[in-house]
Amino acid sequence: MNILLIGSGGREHALGWRLAQSKSCSKLYAAPGNPGLGECAECVALDSSDHQAVAEFCRSKAVDLLVIGPEAPLVDGLGDSLRAEGIAVFGPDRAAAQLEGSKGFTKDLCARANIPTAAYVRHADKSAALADLERFGLPVVIKADGLAAGKGVIIAETSEAASAAIEDMFGGGFGDAGAEVVIEECMTGEEASFFALTDGEAIVPFGSAQDHKRVGDGDVGLNTGGMGAYSPAPVLTPELESRVMEEIIQPTVDTMRAEGMPYSGVLYAGLMLTSEGPKLIEYNCRFGDPECQVLMTRFSGDLAALMLACATGELAQAVAPKFDSATALTVVMAAKGYPTKPEKGGAISGIEAAEADGAKVFHAGTAEKDGQLVASGGRVINVTARGKNVIYAQKAAYAAVDRIDFPSGFCRRDIGWREVEREGANA
Ligand code: AMP
Ligand code: GLY
Repeated sequence: MNILLIGSGGREHALGWRLAQSKSCSKLYAAPGNPGLGECAECVALDSSDHQAVAEFCRSKAVDLLVIGPEAPLVDGLGDSLRAEGIAVFGPDRAAAQLEGSKGFTKDLCARANIPTAAYVRHADKSAALADLERFGLPVVIKADGLAAGKGVIIAETSEAASAAIEDMFGGGFGDAGAEVVIEECMTGEEASFFALTDGEAIVPFGSAQDHKRVGDGDVGLNTGGMGAYSPAPVLTPELESRVMEEIIQPTVDTMRAEGMPYSGVLYAGLMLTSEGPKLIEYNCRFGDPECQVLMTRFSGDLAALMLACATGELAQAVAPKFDSATALTVVMAAKGYPTKPEKGGAISGIEAAEADGAKVFHAGTAEKDGQLVASGGRVINVTARGKNVIYAQKAAYAAVDRIDFPSGFCRRDIGWREVEREGANA
């Protein structure tokens, strides 16, 4: 089949790399893609917000499957437009993408379906929101309802900070995303990410991972899109995974279908493993970035066929996904200044040397300028390696990082630290 993949980050490079290796994929296009994707796909300049242009491209190239990587085009209804043209789409339609596009929508769904999550209220009115603050202890979590590029969550330690966050959101500090806010009880525990594929009815687990959101070693500094990840996440034991499927994923998919908003694609659950059991922090309607890079490193099989099965309602008949039991770990190399003001244009070399021992370097924010690979975004490359556990995968990933020459870049040196400590203690 011919496939068009939408997106340009490390997540899409990892997806494209696996799609291109799929037996059932004959031709892969990526829009707009990146220099890494250029090695496994034909990159085309298409604006994903121009649904008509994407549809015309799909018709002219006989595209059988559209794979949408990032959340913005999903929430914007690219899936709806292309399905209306008869093209199979991996990724939810606009109504189902509300699971990521509106935090209040997801909290209300959890309430209706009895899914474990933090206690909450949602408000479209500032005074009502401020008045409701006193119902919560401290710290309290204040969230902008809509998509805010990972920045719409404030954990307020004092009631002054909580009020200020609410004022800021209603004052337009988060744009349209803050027109409504969700106030939540602050949960404690360890966080883990869980992925499931679904066609709206059948569901298959698709692996676990742990991300590192803070910019600095030891989990300090500003929040980022993610500075590194590993998969699987051993804290999500098979027993906990079954609970997550039964108590969180299954009722979500069932309720969405029952309410006329069937969800298809990948459902990414951000979880808090609390003393009362796993609770949902939030949903995303796409793969995590950089979690996807470690999932794809472990995945073996025909990704294209599996995605088509999700798109066409045939997941129950599809071959079950297989994952290597080894650990995959990825280190994000970012441009200095990330996440505030990343320095663009810095030269990168040494990728071949980094990949010599089996590591894989995914491109996230790179460009080619006069034959030289340069940084063009905040998160620039994702250096990914495997090992029999997190300790070994971490060693292999940093050995590869050390072969990269990227003077204007930096990375955390402690990706996987929680598990390295646990494995070290058990060794
Ligand atoms: P989100 O953008 O919803 O993923 O939230 C970003 C981060 O905020 C999460 O990864 C958690 O670390 C934290 N967070 C969000 N909601 C809660 C909550 N109710 N309790 C504790 N931490 C939270
Ligand atoms: N790495 C977190 C995310 O993709 O949302």
